Amino acid sequence: MTSSPRDVKLCLLGFGNVARSFCALLERQAPLLAEKHGLRVLVTGAGTRRGSLLAPDGMAPGAVLAAAPKGAPLPAPPRPADQLLAASGADVLVELTVMEEDFAPLATGHIEAAFDLGMDVVTANKGPIAWNWSRISKKAASTGRRIRFESTVMDGLPVFSLLEFTLVDCRLLGFEAVFNSTTSVILDAIGRGESFEGALGAAQDAGIAEADPSHDIDGWDAACKAAALANVAMDAGITPADVVKESLRDVHRERIVKARADGKRLRLVTTVWREGDEAGGAAASGSPAGPVRARVRAAELDIDHPLAPLTEESLGVVLHTDLMGDVVVAELGALVPQTAYGVYADLLHVCRPA
Ligand SMILES: NC(=O)c1ccc[n+]([C@@H]2O[C@H](COP(=O)([O-])OP(=O)(O)OC[C@H]3O[C@@H](n4cnc5c(N)ncnc54)[C@H](OP(=O)(O)O)[C@@H]3O)[C@@H](O)[C@H]2O)c1
Repeated sequence: MTSSPRDVKLCLLGFGNVARSFCALLERQAPLLAEKHGLRVLVTGAGTRRGSLLAPDGMAPGAVLAAAPKGAPLPAPPRPADQLLAASGADVLVELTVMEEDFAPLATGHIEAAFDLGMDVVTANKGPIAWNWSRISKKAASTGRRIRFESTVMDGLPVFSLLEFTLVDCRLLGFEAVFNSTTSVILDAIGRGESFEGALGAAQDAGIAEADPSHDIDGWDAACKAAALANVAMDAGITPADVVKESLRDVHRERIVKARADGKRLRLVTTVWREGDEAGGAAASGSPAGPVRARVRAAELDIDHPLAPLTEESLGVVLHTDLMGDVVVAELGALVPQTAYGVYADLLHVCRPA
């Protein structure tokens, strides 16, 4: 590419593990972004509850990292998100805040404000997609903006884009997934004789546990992912509250140890199906589709189950489709860099002509 690269300005809301890894990735990829995609990515705003940064002329992502070393707040005092967004003059909001403890849809407000300001949105925050997808998709359509959220469900593994662009015209009938690696880490550690608390601490140190780990342990993280994928790909119209959940707190050590001794893998498994479609019935007969149902529960996976080979930090989903049968997608070692990659891929997507 010979002409000078086009500037793409970002406003980052949330500057934690994923945002930092994303900035490091952007910095590393800067030559390729310019050469292959004709883009120069700059940060014009960043904000958290503890600090902010405003750079109307744009800063290189690496310079933003240097301005707020890990653990330190962004250099300026915090600003309300809507003011920061407006002042940033960004092209794209990168929404990387966390889901509130009470699930208040704060990030939904961030996304809607960005649409109103003419920005596209990229997010790894599952909250808005799980709880407010109908509202957000309508607002994106009415404002002519785009939103991508690949990292919300499988930490960067392509699922939404796989269904949208690759499994063209396939209907998603349901899915079965291991969506939460923190619970897999805990289950395997307990199986090896370690304590619940020690295993949770290890997941927190790796940056894979939710800000509030009870979201992982009580099945809310998996329920949010179930609702997000079901709402987007099955038009389910459910919320995480509709998902029947089993908490890891109710899975006793004896059960975990027995599963291990029996050569099975105990996992928190999410299952989503459309009533009447369990055996492809409604799809085949053309009868009206029933409501979508979802549950998250601990299950002993036999060795020949497609999700059984998934080790601790790995995630996987079996997509039940009408035209392609069952498609298995798995990510071995789903950690923060993979999530950041999903955000990066989404950014490239919204930078392409519509
Ligand atoms: N870690 C992963 O591997 C992974 C995988 C998939 C998806 N995700 C999702 O990606 C998002 C970011 O995850 P993370 O691991 O980077 O979380 P994190 O390390 O806890 O960072 C969250 C950031 O958001 C800020 N924040 C929280 N609430 C805010 C608010 N209301 N307004 C402004 N800033 C706010 C926090 O800063 P203050 O405390 O200063 O506000 C912090 O900078 C989350 O939604 C998470 O579920 C993460």
